[in-house]
Amino acid sequence: MKETATRAASWVAEVESQLIAWRRHFHRHPELSFQEEQTANYVYDTLASFPGLELSRPTKTSVVARLVTGRPGKVLALRADMDALPIDEENEVEFASQNPGVMHACGHDGHTAMLLGTAKILSEHRDELSGEVRFIFQHAEELIPGGARELVEQGVLDGVDAVVGQHLWQGTASQKIAVRADALMAAPDTFYITILGRGGHAAQPHLNVDPIAIGAQVVTNLQHMASRMVDPLEPFVLSVTKFVGGTADNVIPGSVEMCGTVRTFSEERRDYAAEWMENIIRGITSAHGANYTFRYEKGYSPVINDEAVTELVRQALLAEFGEEVVEEAVQTMGGEDFSAYQSAVPGTFFFTGIRNDEKGIVYPHHHPRFDLDEDSLALGCRAFVAIALQMLA
Ligand code: NI
Repeated sequence: MKETATRAASWVAEVESQLIAWRRHFHRHPELSFQEEQTANYVYDTLASFPGLELSRPTKTSVVARLVTGRPGKVLALRADMDALPIDEENEVEFASQNPGVMHACGHDGHTAMLLGTAKILSEHRDELSGEVRFIFQHAEELIPGGARELVEQGVLDGVDAVVGQHLWQGTASQKIAVRADALMAAPDTFYITILGRGGHAAQPHLNVDPIAIGAQVVTNLQHMASRMVDPLEPFVLSVTKFVGGTADNVIPGSVEMCGTVRTFSEERRDYAAEWMENIIRGITSAHGANYTFRYEKGYSPVINDEAVTELVRQALLAEFGEEVVEEAVQTMGGEDFSAYQSAVPGTFFFTGIRNDEKGIVYPHHHPRFDLDEDSLALGCRAFVAIALQMLA
């Protein structure tokens, strides 16, 4: 890391302990998607204590702050998500969740803290900026249809030139930042299948239509999509994650239910997946005299990073931190509703590393022992400040 203190570095150093205190506050008081009322109130009140921000509440549990400098320039939107997950925390830390069954197990507590820190710093140094910075504190990233889409519909990106977001990321080592142009995160789609057979005595299979035997063939044949039908160089996941049917050892059930997920990186591939899944299900059930129902639900769009905005962010981060910190991000089949912003304006999403083997911070996102290296809060905050300075100085 470059040790010549940049403006961003010295400003962030002044708020670092506050970043950790904010993160711990949110971690203690997690709230589920669309229910982030206390969180949004706390964010609103904190933002109101900073100079010169125009605040609004586009939805009940979201907050937007505008820093309008009055000097002509670009409009940059920075985004943090604020919701937690229905998980019982197993970390034994002083700031563990006080809300049983709910936990910040994805790092959104850190996102909220980092964007608060960025708003504090930039509002105090507004004289060094032109244009506008818009701080988006978003609700409900974890629950489809997601809060981002609602905020876009509410017009929070009106007039915005570029939107930038980051995720504190277990797949990246602490004190590294991973950037990537083009496809970064997958579209997470969901499917539901029912195989409708004809139940009866298990000793007389010839008189029944066995949905378990047929369903097993459906599962096997769906796997052919990944191995035989999609280009092996293209990331594609199809997982059947539930298979339920039957009640007794001597009864063939009337039906079997399944569901699962499909992860892809393009709209065309999503449509193809839905169409070919149904072809397979229809072919196998009809061959065996069964029937089916099939529902394919599209989740978030894939996170596809804009080339120009990504390059601008990469250059800002390289100038701030140097080559030892900034690396190329690895694609993930996880999804993110940040894509809703990218469908409205050019944007980029990057990963700020939190994995730290020495500190035992090794558990994955959405795990009851998930944690983040708090040293990464300053790094992520500094990244946002450096990007804003690069675009608006
Ligand atoms: Ni997340």
